[in-house]
Amino acid sequence: MMGYPNFVKIVDVGPRDGLQNEPGFVPTETKVSLIHKLADCGLSMIEAGAFVSPKWVPQMADGADVFAAIIKKPGVVYSALTPNMKGFDLAMVAGVQEVAVFAAASESFSKKNTNCTISESIERFLPLCDAAQKAGISVRGYVSCVLGCPYEGDISPAVVADLSSRLMDAGCYEVSLGDTIGCGTPAKAQALVNEVGAAISMDKVAVHFHDTYGQALANIHAVLQQGVSVVDSSVAGLGGCPYAKGASGNVATEDVLYMLNGLGLDTGVDMTGLLTASAYITGELGRPPSSRVALALNGSVEAVL
Ligand code: HMG
Ligand code: MG
Repeated sequence: MMGYPNFVKIVDVGPRDGLQNEPGFVPTETKVSLIHKLADCGLSMIEAGAFVSPKWVPQMADGADVFAAIIKKPGVVYSALTPNMKGFDLAMVAGVQEVAVFAAASESFSKKNTNCTISESIERFLPLCDAAQKAGISVRGYVSCVLGCPYEGDISPAVVADLSSRLMDAGCYEVSLGDTIGCGTPAKAQALVNEVGAAISMDKVAVHFHDTYGQALANIHAVLQQGVSVVDSSVAGLGGCPYAKGASGNVATEDVLYMLNGLGLDTGVDMTGLLTASAYITGELGRPPSSRVALALNGSVEAVL
């Protein structure tokens, strides 16, 4: 076991992972206002949208409009998901500065989410990473279902480590490990990051825990002690994956920040500003946040809405 990292980078994926599963279309202006509020509270990386098929994920169809309207704050990276060259080309036209590709550790989930096998998904990423490198664009990699798959059950850490290596070989600068259905527990999460860290180096490992079983904070706490220092989360705990039935949102950014503040770890993120962003989006969506911290600090559900 190592000590905690001195600085933890929080990547807020709320505008993408958080909103992609919303049944009603969230207006572009609302998405943009949320992104501005997240940048204002000191987050250095915000996943702001996705250039995926609008037939598959209609909520992300306005990616180009969102990116056109963002008033970019210096020092903040606004990234987007791009599953293939078409998505990458659209993202480049929209002026996106950083993209993310996503693969899955199970064949069934790969098919459901991106209509291709795991190997085919890597084949799609190779020209994308090549084009990105030529354009000076960084590519982040995701692996989904790292601690369990809704269709195939248990996933071996060795499979995740191998896929993570393939993403790094393709040109990703970091791999974010997605517990898509939030089924992981701390010892398993530690074993996973240790195996992936041994394959690609721990400083290239990020974690992306959904909180379906209420384990995300415990898992984050466990992996921080193994040397992980990049954590994905979603403001107000919004979200879920459209291709993982029952998957609830990412761990809430407010809850992660509260824990990190309590541990005395630096993040550069301001809680008051974050609560403003959280209250804004939950007000727009007309429901309370999933964040326990937002509920506690904002006083009550009524105060937040
Ligand atoms: P496909 O249907 O196999 O694609 O979908 P295709 O290449 O056969 O093309 C079919 C149509 O889609 C064509 O249009 C293409 O032009 C269009 P048509 O001729 O029928 O009018 N198309 C696109 N349009 C816009 N942007 C694009 C694009 N690509 C093709 N990029 C595809 C394959 C990968 C596109 C599709 O399966 C897809 O978009 N999947 C994305 C699903 C998704 O966004 N899931 C959620 C995000 S991942 C996630 O949440 C997990 C994560 O959070 C980590 C975790 O929690 O585990 C990252
Ligand atoms: Mg996710």
